[in-house]
Amino acid sequence: PLPPAFQVPLPVPAVLEPVTTSGGTDRYEITQREASAEILPGITTPLWTYGGTFPGPTIESRRGRPVTVTHRNELPLPTVVHLHGGRTPADSDGYPTDLVLPAGGHEAHTGHASAHGPAHGMHDPRAVVTERTRDYTFPLDQRPTLLWYHDHRMDFTAPAIWRGLAGLHVVRDDAEDDLGLPAGPRELPLMITDRSFAADGGLAYPSLDPSLRERPGVLEPYLAGVLGDVILVNGAPWPVHEVDAARYRLRILNASNARHYELEAVTDDGRRLDLVQIGADQGLLAAPVTHRLLPVAPAERYDVVVDFSGAPVGSRVSLVNRLGSGRTRDVMAFRVARRALDESRVPGTLSTDLPDWRRSDAVRVRDFAFRAGRMRGDHGWLIGGLPFDPARSDVAVGLGEVEVWRLVADVHHPVHLHLVGFRVLSRSGRPPLPHDAGLKDTVSLRPGEAVEIITRFDGYRGRYLFHCHNAEHEDMGMMANLEVV
Ligand code: C2O
Ligand code: CU
Repeated sequence: PLPPAFQVPLPVPAVLEPVTTSGGTDRYEITQREASAEILPGITTPLWTYGGTFPGPTIESRRGRPVTVTHRNELPLPTVVHLHGGRTPADSDGYPTDLVLPAGGHEAHTGHASAHGPAHGMHDPRAVVTERTRDYTFPLDQRPTLLWYHDHRMDFTAPAIWRGLAGLHVVRDDAEDDLGLPAGPRELPLMITDRSFAADGGLAYPSLDPSLRERPGVLEPYLAGVLGDVILVNGAPWPVHEVDAARYRLRILNASNARHYELEAVTDDGRRLDLVQIGADQGLLAAPVTHRLLPVAPAERYDVVVDFSGAPVGSRVSLVNRLGSGRTRDVMAFRVARRALDESRVPGTLSTDLPDWRRSDAVRVRDFAFRAGRMRGDHGWLIGGLPFDPARSDVAVGLGEVEVWRLVADVHHPVHLHLVGFRVLSRSGRPPLPHDAGLKDTVSLRPGEAVEIITRFDGYRGRYLFHCHNAEHEDMGMMANLEVV
């Protein structure tokens, strides 16, 4: 029995308090543990959580102020934490075999040869780090934006995120604070996910190996990616939020495993309100871009301002997914409750520090094909004809060098690079789309498309990744090593 749409109030994830702020660093502690929640009214759903809730607690940071998060794993299986969009040294970036072992003394076997670490008394030449608690250190020396943290374990990222291992991490700075954008209760993070529920209230996920130990991947009907029939925003089904007739800053994250959205804000009388985009995955745009329809692929973030004074007091504005059908068309709604003073603004110039790399800056152009294939005898998703292998070196880039990457796709693939932000140069030879503006870390390749991106590999040397962020594709091989040397 699914709840009617727009009845459950929108939750906003709690902001985590640091355990200390001394020594120039904010320190946090998060225990990963099993918990349950009443997601559908009257039904108990077991989850895997960061700190007992889904989404996990939000971390609020200032640009350039380092953060250390101590993660303790009380879940039954190993985990890996990745801060998506973070400019992070490799040893804290959450490489898929860099495990945090279960604290409960469960065995650490994950079914992949490279996942055996010191816990087995073996010495793996690939230097797998395995611990029961782990300090992740994030310098956060980067443009302010909405980041998110999520599980990234080898072969089993998708079911771990599905079970609840995802949370938000906001980076701010003074320049952004001074813009006068909607703030406080008029700034809302919206983590959009889809999930399916089994008859017993548990989350339903079609793993080939429900123990999540040996064989990655999903049952045949789900090879393209797992879609749920319930849309959750901040963990609540089709929620509603009461707003003033004023501008709101909506910080949208598509944290769904595989579902794409094309969002529009529709009034009761069928009008579409402007979605004024002010930021992309990696922070503020140079100038706002107005959309009526906003495509959002898995892992992308869009920072948008919506002016609810464009709808009558007492009416409702629904956020709708044009790609959905039936109940998956609805995402959430805003009830315009009252007139109110609005001193916020959206300046015509939002930022002046966007990198403007030119093709002529690039020292090389690389081509990568994202296509279906075979992995370890099962269906796979491949980059350049190969499934992910932590022991293989795929791409070595020089620290500080600019490159153009040309990414081609068979079907839809949202491609994500760790460590760096990039700009979209072209789509199949044509100019980028309006929502490609700004600095991104995930770009949605549409079926049959060739997308060119450009970036400078700045920050840190070490072993990083790039991959498809359709989480099922990622687990079925669509990931590669990116070494910055
Ligand atoms: Cu959000 Cu490598 O991932
Ligand atoms: Cu993909």
